[in-house]
Formats: sequence, structure tokens, C-alpha cells
Amino acid sequence: GGLGPKLLRLAHADAISYSIRSGRTGGMRGTLKLYSNSSLPPGLSAIMPFLEDYKILHPKASYADIWAYAASVAISESRGPAVPYRCGRKDLNATQFTPAPSLQPQGTWNASQIRARYSDMGLTDNETMAIFAMRGMGRMHPDVSGYDGRTTPFSLFITNAYFIQLTRMTTFVYSSSAKQWVNSASKTAMMPSDMSLMNDTSFQGAVQRYAANATLMFTDFVPAFVKLLELG
Ligand code: HEM
Repeated sequence: GGLGPKLLRLAHADAISYSIRSGRTGGMRGTLKLYSNSSLPPGLSAIMPFLEDYKILHPKASYADIWAYAASVAISESRGPAVPYRCGRKDLNATQFTPAPSLQPQGTWNASQIRARYSDMGLTDNETMAIFAMRGMGRMHPDVSGYDGRTTPFSLFITNAYFIQLTRMTTFVYSSSAKQWVNSASKTAMMPSDMSLMNDTSFQGAVQRYAANATLMFTDFVPAFVKLLELG
């Protein structure tokens, strides 16, 4: 449901190529354009064409700038806070070092794998959890990732519902056939990576703070999301 979540997922997937350990490479650099379809996270090759018309209209703008701008518009269109947008990102070209597709997070990851990836982007645990508010948006599609369902009932709006759902983790049951956690009462689902956050003291603390206080979540979300969009 909805283009906004797809555009937010696209910006996150481009930004996550940033790696301090690999020599501060990646970040929003249009890196996804350099991956073959088979190394792109599932579904992203279908999302990129949505913004091709804007690239044709604004040939001097980088893909990275167009995708970052689309993400900040998607946030305000989803009843979210204003996210300050700055341009100036430069796309990588094929002759430059391309960050490894393996930097993309997996739904099978545990909390320490999640921390390893996001801390290698320079994000603190708190900043990482603040941007995870976005996991409450959109949905997982069986024909795309193999996971199925929404993590929250409010998938078109930016809320703290994802964190509230996680605090109700005891109402979720693991389905070994679907390899995900499901809550039949609220008709929501979580990937193992989502659920793993509750097995980690530091991540769990942030989840609980944001579940209890939406204002605090929005206050932390804006600078963390701007940081994500401006890495590299
Ligand atoms: C461990 C971290 C993460 C993993 C493993 C992960 C993986 C995934 C997967 C498998 C999907 C479902 C794709 C589909 O079936 O259509 C998805 C959707 C999504 N992701 Fe992530 N993600 C992570 C973190 C994030 C973060 C931090 C953001 C944003 C800042 C984000 C934004 C989104 C959005 C908005 C969607 C919904 C897309 C739609 O409705 O089509 N994700 N993610």
C-alpha cells in the first residue's frame, strides 16, 4: 500500500551503503543504480522507475538528491514532521568503488548484526531506533521479500505504532513456515530482525521510550533521519 513507504524504503536502501570501516564509502550516492537486479534488495528495481521522470526533468540533479528529496516529501505527506532537505549529493559512477550489496540489512539478522551495520554508519543505538519508526510504514509482500503483512495497522502514517507493537511482543507467535512472527488479533507481523530488538537491553530501552512518548520519538527522528540522508 502506497508509494510513500516505497520511496522511504528506497532512500534507506541507498543510504545504508555507507560504511566507516570500508573507508567512509557509500551513503546516498545513487549506489543502487550500480547493482545488478539480482544483487538489489527484492522489489527495489520496481521502485526506481517511479522517479525516472523527475530525473529526465532535472538532468543535473543526482539520483541520490532526487531520492532524498522524495523521502523528505514522503515523510511530510505521511503526516510526519518536516525533514530539512539539502541537495548536493553526487552519484557514484561505474568506474568508482561500489559499496557491497551485502551491506543491506536482512530480516534474519539479530540485534548484534543490526548494531554492527548501523554503528558502522555512525548511528548510535538511539538514532538507529529513531529511524526504525519507518518499519511501521508500508508492508512486507510475499512476492517481494517472502515476508507478509504490516507491522502496524497505520502503514501510511508515521507514528510510534511500530514501537507499541514491539512492546506487545508476547502476543506474537513465531510461524516456522512463514519464518516471521504473527499477531492474529491485530493482524500484524514482524520479521525476526524486528523482534530481535527486544532481546537487546539498549535497543529495547529506546523501543519502550518511543512507545510511551510519540513526541520524544519525533524529536529524535528528525535529526537521525537527516543524518541518514546525508551520510557520505
Ligand atoms: C534490520 C533492518 C531492516 C531490514 C532487515 C529491512 C528489511 C525490509 C523488508 C524485507 C521489507 C519488505 C519488502 C517487501 O516485501 O515489500 C522492508 C520494507 C520497508 N522498509 Fe525496511 N528494513 C530494515 C530497516 C528499515 C529502516 C531503518 C527503514 C527506514 C528508515 C526502512 C524502511 C522500509 C519501508 C518504508 C518499508 C515498506 C515498503 C513498502 O511498503 O513497500 N527499513 N524492509
